[in-house]
Amino acid sequence: MRESATLRPTLADVAVSLTRLDPTGTDRGALVEFMTRNVFPFHVRPRLTAADVEQAIDAGAYRDEEHDTFWVEHTDHGRIGTLRLEDLSDDAPLFDLRLDGRFRGRGLGVDVLRAATDLVFSTLPAVRRFEGQTREDNVAMRRTFLRCGWVKEAHYREGWPVEGGDPVASVAYAILRRDWASGTTTTFVWEDLTA
Ligand SMILES: CC(C)(COP(=O)(O)OP(=O)(O)OC[C@H]1O[C@@H](n2cnc3c(N)ncnc32)[C@H](O)[C@@H]1OP(=O)(O)O)[C@@H](O)C(=O)NCCC(=O)NCCS
Repeated sequence: MRESATLRPTLADVAVSLTRLDPTGTDRGALVEFMTRNVFPFHVRPRLTAADVEQAIDAGAYRDEEHDTFWVEHTDHGRIGTLRLEDLSDDAPLFDLRLDGRFRGRGLGVDVLRAATDLVFSTLPAVRRFEGQTREDNVAMRRTFLRCGWVKEAHYREGWPVEGGDPVASVAYAILRRDWASGTTTTFVWEDLTA
């Protein structure tokens, strides 16, 4: 194992917070509006209909034993997106982060991913690893992972289906609780055996 330079941010000036939303109650309409108004070009379903979102809400995809969802709030910009956690009964949950189109391309994703990581490790004591996956051409998300000290752990070739096109690779990143706690990034030798 090798360790790189310290990446842990100081939290004093972080402008992003996460507010748990109520998908079946007061936040239902706003959640449907957010998901249908925005386009998510790097998701398997880039455009969602109101029926899609309503069905997902009713199926518990935004909140049940495995899932929870938060508004991403910014001190200057207000509500800038959603964060959905998945596999919450596991010791290695995943996330789905969606910024509003107006707030993409400004580097805000870094503060959001840091806030999400703080939330997961500080509120879920059994969690050892926090994971994320994206498609290979989602460079903004992949750079956000790296900026936050996450480590690439897998590159699943042709693992991400693309409607009407050839599949692309799915790339998996993760951060360990101990790295989050110490503010370091532990790496490993990718090809540790010879043929
Ligand atoms: C993915 C997402 C969270 C990234 O957050 P963001 O704040 O918009 O990220 P940015 O566009 O500022 O890009 C981050 C970095 O990638 C770089 N980048 C973005 N697109 C790039 C491209 N096509 N080529 C090269 N670099 C690129 C930016 O220059 C920036 O670099 P920097 O760190 O050196 O400043 C956000 O764009 C989003 O919510 N997108 C829609 C939903 C989504 O795809 N979610 C990911 C699935 S979990």
